Amino acid sequence: MTTIHRFIVLALASIALSTYGADAAGNWKESCAKCHGEDGKGETKMGRKLSIGDLTDAKMQAKFTDEEAFKAIKSGRTDANGKTTMKAIEGLSDEDMKALVAYVRTLKK
Ligand code: HEC
Repeated sequence: MTTIHRFIVLALASIALSTYGADAAGNWKESCAKCHGEDGKGETKMGRKLSIGDLTDAKMQAKFTDEEAFKAIKSGRTDANGKTTMKAIEGLSDEDMKALVAYVRTLKK
């Protein structure tokens, strides 16, 4: 292998490694979009039922901190009456959840 080939192989490997485990967009589609919608607007059947806020709206984004978003994803969320509205997400590492918080921030228009 020439040096340039070795470089390309290494670069591709590191891209593959960095997306693996932190595929926030994929996790969003799989675990979050059924309520929040793929675009984050919450215009889904579940979204309407739960009257979910529009995550593309800067005002909505200003209502929670990254820590609160992380907690909502990790532990779930309840409404004022203590009823669970967003279940704790299972099967994701803390890293995945942090990546999701960052992803949620990119939904803001
Ligand atoms: C069963 C439906 C449901 C699913 C699935 C769901 N959420 Fe939520 N989520 C809610 C509801 C309901 C709220 C609170 C409604 C509001 O205030 O707009 C909420 C609020 C949030 C908030 C705002 C945090 C806060 O404290 O107000 C974030 C960020 C969020 N969800 C991210 C996610 C992510 C990321 C996923 C996927 C891992 C996800 N949600 C999956 C229903 C859901």
